[in-house]
Amino acid sequence: MSRIHPLPDLLISQIAAGEVVERPASVLKELIENSLDAGATKIDVQLEEGGVRLIRVADDGSGIEPDDLPLALARHATSKIASLDDLERVASYGFRGEALASVASVARVTLFSRTTAHPHAWKVSHGGTPREPAALERGTVVEVADLYFNTPARRKFLKSESTEFAHCDEVLQRMALARPDVAFSLMHNRAVKRRLATADFGRRVRDLLGDEFPVHARDVAVQAGPLSLTGLAALPAYSRASRDEQYLYVNGRFVRDKLLAHAVREAYADVLHGTRHPAYALFLTLDPAAVDVNVHPAKTEVRFRDSRGVHQFVFHALTRALAQPVVQETGDRPRFSESQKRGLSPVSFQQSFAVEEPRATAAYLDFARQAYAEPVMPQPLGYAIAQLHGLYILAQNEAGLILVDQHAAHERILYERLKNQVEAGPPPTQALLVPAVIEVSEKDIATAEDQAEALAALGFEVSTGGPRQLTLRAVPALLACGDVGALLRALLSELAEHPASRVVEAQRNELLATVACHGAVRGKRSLSLPEMNALLREMEATDRADQCNHGRPTWRQVSLAEIDALFMRGK
Ligand SMILES: Nc1ncnc2c1ncn2[C@@H]1O[C@H](COP(=O)(O)OP(=O)(O)OP(=O)(O)O)[C@@H](O)[C@H]1O
Ligand SMILES: [Mg+2]
Repeated sequence: MSRIHPLPDLLISQIAAGEVVERPASVLKELIENSLDAGATKIDVQLEEGGVRLIRVADDGSGIEPDDLPLALARHATSKIASLDDLERVASYGFRGEALASVASVARVTLFSRTTAHPHAWKVSHGGTPREPAALERGTVVEVADLYFNTPARRKFLKSESTEFAHCDEVLQRMALARPDVAFSLMHNRAVKRRLATADFGRRVRDLLGDEFPVHARDVAVQAGPLSLTGLAALPAYSRASRDEQYLYVNGRFVRDKLLAHAVREAYADVLHGTRHPAYALFLTLDPAAVDVNVHPAKTEVRFRDSRGVHQFVFHALTRALAQPVVQETGDRPRFSESQKRGLSPVSFQQSFAVEEPRATAAYLDFARQAYAEPVMPQPLGYAIAQLHGLYILAQNEAGLILVDQHAAHERILYERLKNQVEAGPPPTQALLVPAVIEVSEKDIATAEDQAEALAALGFEVSTGGPRQLTLRAVPALLACGDVGALLRALLSELAEHPASRVVEAQRNELLATVACHGAVRGKRSLSLPEMNALLREMEATDRADQCNHGRPTWRQVSLAEIDALFMRGK
């Protein structure tokens, strides 16, 4: 063993760089954060060869005092905190005074900066060369060239130029999404890749994620004391095969936090089943003193002082946002909710709401009046006019045609009602006129005996009828029809997999989803106009009625304008 000796400064920085500077994108993140901390309103990024050859970030921020320039590149030197107290309530992105020093230890860094108090800019380069006068209108430019030029081992871990560029682009998108008030541009190998003007949040979302995302998303804006959650959460119709559109921020900082990700997943569990991933851009804001950002080298993980409280808050805020019923009452007239309006295509929305179309209103109400022989109120989902192939309800409303998947819609209504009932205690049950004798496996018998309590809590009264027979005497009153045998078998197989002795809410809801799926009108089933209208009215009053339990949409609007377009009317 050799003797203990202190490490040289450069090596210390290179070790630190191992954590902070993983790839060009991590350098870019640090530089953009510094620009934002300096109050920049315009940030221009130039990359060459995926950022390995050059990363240049120019901003119009406050600039650096000439005397401080060498310190900016020194380790443990920062303008952002001065005490432990500051650290514990830090609101800037930076606070360690380490990023530039780490970068400068593995690349050639040049810094140009000018504050308003000085007639011209100054420049410092790596390696402690003295500062020189330079030309710059305002703000700061940081150039990082030849990343890992002196640490070839790390260079080997870099991926292709296009991959490294894609990571840089992702970093820029993350920052830009959080700061629509700042203009960004991005060039790669001298070609413009992005140009983002300052905008409001909605515009910035469309610029970065496309027009589809906000159309299929619910606004989130919930405040509870010092906690707030804002942003957009996409409905299941816009779910993704991967987690590529999940943007979560804590006090403006993009994070990959397990606790928050869990709260979000739980909130979606009720509407999004299977292997799909939700898309969202959500911003949690809280007192900086209530969150520790000094736990991860890249600051992408955080620790909350009251993690349970934060989890609950995010879960409930998002659950509520996703659950908004189809319509909100405004004044004496039911109307589409804001997010629902966005769900309609811009054309149909304008046609049907901004420019009222009397012909539609009069006609659809006349038809409904005749069907009932009494006056009727306008309704958001309108009145049924027919059923298609025993599967779909056709209705007309103010905007045009409504198409409803009757199974999906009924399933969601049943599910929500069952959940409400079960939450309040065992649901009302209905005794079957003739008890159903159901052939099952021996394993099912064992499950039914083990799980008798769980079954009773869900509203099923089951006893053993023979070695391979169960007798079902009562079911939840909401379901007194349908194939109770298939339903019971499905329930038992789920209960066998996840014994309900420790039923938690999420699992109970999954069982209820199974119950609802089996209890809802299945396959072809003809419905009368009053039955269909009753379903439409229930949909309007049910939380989350826009999607079935599997995340499929339950209804669609086809506007008169869209139908007109089909026939090239008015062209
Ligand atoms: N674009 C910029 N505009 C103005 N000042 C800057 C800029 N970039 C860096 N600085 C100054 O240089 C200092 C060092 O930057 P550096 O990124 O190394 O550390 P930090 O931001 O303070 O902390 P962290 O290591 O957590 O990022 C900053 O504290 C800031 O004063
Ligand atoms: Mg910094």
